[in-house]
Amino acid sequence: MQSVSSLLLGWYDQHKRTLPWRGLRDPYAIWVSETMLQQTRVETVLSYYPRFIQAFPTVQALADAPLDDVLKLWEGLGYYRRAQNLHKGAQQVVKDYHGALPRSVTELMKIHGIGDYTAGAIASIAYGLPVPAVDGNVIRVVSRLRGIRENVGIPSVKRALTADAAALVPLERPGDFNQALMDLGSAICTPSTPDCVACPLMHCCDACREGDAELLPVLPRKNPPREIDYDLLLIRSGSRVLVHQRTETLLQGLWIFPMLEEHHAPSALPAAVKRRLGLKTEKAVFLDDARHVFTHQVWQMKIYLLDTACDAAPDGWRFVTVQELAALPMPTAVMKARKAIGDLLQD
Ligand code: ADE
Repeated sequence: MQSVSSLLLGWYDQHKRTLPWRGLRDPYAIWVSETMLQQTRVETVLSYYPRFIQAFPTVQALADAPLDDVLKLWEGLGYYRRAQNLHKGAQQVVKDYHGALPRSVTELMKIHGIGDYTAGAIASIAYGLPVPAVDGNVIRVVSRLRGIRENVGIPSVKRALTADAAALVPLERPGDFNQALMDLGSAICTPSTPDCVACPLMHCCDACREGDAELLPVLPRKNPPREIDYDLLLIRSGSRVLVHQRTETLLQGLWIFPMLEEHHAPSALPAAVKRRLGLKTEKAVFLDDARHVFTHQVWQMKIYLLDTACDAAPDGWRFVTVQELAALPMPTAVMKARKAIGDLLQD
């Protein structure tokens, strides 16, 4: 009987997707693409990866860039911590490894932001080392293939699954094999409606035999995201608007407008702004509603415009022009507000 790897590689040779990072052996390019691909669909990454690589073609170029420029090219991709880690990791590679990514999984994992998945992906794809790269897709495929019916959130279960994945990786073409598992996971072995009859591993898959593929993997139960109401304030001083750079863990380093937790009566907003920012404003004009879903939070926002005669920004804040605003990295959550104030300042 043919091995899992030869069946899967045969399928991959016929069905693999053409992607800009495929076929590359440059560990930096693999590092960037795999970092972008975490928690993000391939289709989305396709419009970010080429621009990023063009702007920062080498580890050195990335390490030398200001963080704001890196975040600007990440704008809209989400999970901005990944961009900060990549930037910090690049500086570490320049400092500690003369700008060249190390060649072993253990050394790769010493780099800021590189965990076992990314280290496995770089080592197998760029260096041809026979190591696994276990992401969500691979967890799904391997749990079905090997009939792992325990909760994969339990560390011992995850370890056993990783060992199963490692045992499958062939000495020949380990990088292609890992990417074949990922492609199989996104094209055929999908979460809710796996297309088992089209699967090259149909005859060796435990879950296919048992008929419970769509029930696997057993995932840890997630808490529902917390709903938070915010009033988002576009505070305009002449042709400029007030912004600041976030320091909170969520969206750290990105620029954002003032936000007050909870919804206020519009007539109460000037007093709330005075208390919070020490700025005297005129009455608040409601512009729009906006909603943004993060992994653990949902922001329900009401967007208001408030004019102020003050042109000195409070400590830690800046009044910026529409051109300056366009150059600042801002999260998708405030894009509707940015567009609204952009139009108003332009007029
Ligand atoms: N998801 C994560 N890494 C991937 C890769 N290299 N190819 C396709 N999908 C992926």
